[in-house]
Amino acid sequence: MLDWKEYYKNKKVLVTGHTGFKGSWASIVLKELGADVYGYSLDAPTNPSMYEICSIDTKIHSEIGDIRDYDNLYNYINEIKPDVIIHLAAQPIVRESYVNPLDTYSINVMGTANVLEAVRVMAKEGYKAESVVIITTDKVYRNDGRMEGYIESDELNGFDPYSNSKSCADILTQCYTNCFLKDNDIPVSIMRAGNVIGGGDYAKDRLIPDCIRAIDSSDTVKIRNPHATRPFQHVLEPICAYLMVGALQTMDRNYEDNYNIGPIAEGGISVEKMLAIFENVWNDNNISKNKPFKFEIQPDNSKMVEANVLSLNTDKITSKLSLKPVWNIEDAVKMTAKWYAAYLQGEEMYSYSVNQWKEYICLL
Ligand SMILES: NC(=O)c1ccc[n+]([C@@H]2O[C@H](COP(=O)([O-])OP(=O)(O)OC[C@H]3O[C@@H](n4cnc5c(N)ncnc54)[C@H](O)[C@@H]3O)[C@@H](O)[C@H]2O)c1
Repeated sequence: MLDWKEYYKNKKVLVTGHTGFKGSWASIVLKELGADVYGYSLDAPTNPSMYEICSIDTKIHSEIGDIRDYDNLYNYINEIKPDVIIHLAAQPIVRESYVNPLDTYSINVMGTANVLEAVRVMAKEGYKAESVVIITTDKVYRNDGRMEGYIESDELNGFDPYSNSKSCADILTQCYTNCFLKDNDIPVSIMRAGNVIGGGDYAKDRLIPDCIRAIDSSDTVKIRNPHATRPFQHVLEPICAYLMVGALQTMDRNYEDNYNIGPIAEGGISVEKMLAIFENVWNDNNISKNKPFKFEIQPDNSKMVEANVLSLNTDKITSKLSLKPVWNIEDAVKMTAKWYAAYLQGEEMYSYSVNQWKEYICLL
């Protein structure tokens, strides 16, 4: 296997959505790999946020701008001339997509089109990016309720506005790749990861952040869909996969592809089971003695429909990249719980997060 980590040394890498949860982790990891990191996105979507907790704005170049503003985006990309683009910026919350479907479509679909259009136009003008990685999601597939995992060639047609907007983004990326970027010899891969957990996520309507908020305010967390199955894994797994593909596809075009990323051994895990693991780790391992974790099942009667069973087939990434998850779900929950406990105990969280990456990468 080619050395993908070395590739990033002194590379200019643009991360869209750098103020978000995954974008913050990606920025930290890229800095550790020696990259010169540039970010383009709106302000951090949550308060608190990993971006602010880790003072990431002091470590990378950051441009606050809307991904829907093509001229602004183009000017920024044209000014930097990045070697690699990792496109993460999105409206990523299913519930929010029911409230604001049009915004969700415009951010997720036109935002992706704008990134690819900037790459296309710049190539015409003489500057070619070395590598582009577009992040969609496991929810891009038409969910037919099957138990066995979806494969990369399955039909794309997510049900709810978030999932569907990501299916659109995925399809348009394939179009831009085939019609424009292949001709310009610019490799583009699409990465479809399942739900992730990890320290620093404070999004609404995500399981662990809801737990952390409840712990922080000595509350009981209410769980609306305990039997929902999700292919949870630690955020460092997809971050590592994105960066690995981003580097490898510049060295060997066979790596340019669409990839599912998710846990292999357990497949999906139910929300209920995952909470039981979190509860054990939090309450039994002395992580935070005076802040106990309590949860209660409370079915949601709203009309919103969210896909119930989702599992991914990850054979392609496992065989092509020899990439398997490093941490099982228990390890992932443990690392996550430890991150939040460290934060609550006043640790310096940039270094703490770097250390979690070091623990992760030495097992890969
Ligand atoms: N977190 C998960 O479990 C998960 C799972 C699968 C896929 N994804 C995908 O990964 C990516 C990152 O997700 P995340 O969890 O870090 O989300 P997040 O909400 O934490 O971050 C989203 C980022 O996008 C930026 N953004 C939102 N609207 C924007 C706009 N109009 N213009 C510019 N920037 C804008 C935000 O400022 C933020 O930096 C998304 O594409 C998401 O769909 C996430």
